Amino acid sequence: MPTEISKESPFMGSKVLLRSLELSDLDSIMEHWNTYEMRIGMGRYIPKSRADREEWIKKTHEEMKKQESYSFAVVNKETEEFLGVGALKRVDKVNRSASMSIAIYNPENQGKGFGTDAVECLLKIAFNVLNLHRIQLHVYEFLKSGIHIYKKLGFKHVGVRRKASFIAGRYVDDLIMDILEDEFREKFPN
Ligand SMILES: CC(C)(COP(=O)(O)OP(=O)(O)OC[C@H]1O[C@@H](n2cnc3c(N)ncnc32)[C@H](O)[C@@H]1OP(=O)(O)O)[C@@H](O)C(=O)NCCC(=O)NCCS
Repeated sequence: MPTEISKESPFMGSKVLLRSLELSDLDSIMEHWNTYEMRIGMGRYIPKSRADREEWIKKTHEEMKKQESYSFAVVNKETEEFLGVGALKRVDKVNRSASMSIAIYNPENQGKGFGTDAVECLLKIAFNVLNLHRIQLHVYEFLKSGIHIYKKLGFKHVGVRRKASFIAGRYVDDLIMDILEDEFREKFPN
């Protein structure tokens, strides 16, 4: 491992910046997250009210203070446009693990490299800031772009909860993927 300290911020990628969620992000969340298409990918079918999302943002702040979960707004580094949310949740201090999630809300912003860049930032935060050892995620079998970027960034497919989730009228497989600290360091040696 190099002995020099990297001054590169893990919160800043080549395309995105990760910052705290703010109540001012609510308009964008209600417009682009609160759609059926987006919610089914996250396993949440029922529309949410603005008050509910406001409460959720406040809860993310409380969880951060308690070091239980870290939820970040993903914004476009150039324009500061709010793009979605990336999170490291259920931090387990004994096993040094957490669960990761990412969503780029507006379909117009998908497929432009923001998701990949945000996941790379989340991994750098997990391993270089929070000193975690293992990051896990689950992804529905039909979310092909998600599966692609996780594999590209070093996640391994370690299991499947067969037909575990009932989505849009049928049961789908729920894939489990994870990445260990040494695998991350091999891929991102800096
Ligand atoms: C999944 C998601 C986070 C990916 O973010 P994104 O910004 O759209 O992704 P990127 O543009 O960084 O990368 C997409 C990659 O998927 C690839 N891809 C797209 N469709 C694909 C398909 N059907 N099969 C395989 N790969 C596919 C692209 O080619 C690209 O890879 P490349 O850069 O190597 O060419 C985002 O699309 C999203 O939030 N979707 C809806 C919500 C969701 O499903 N979230 C949960 C994910 S577990």
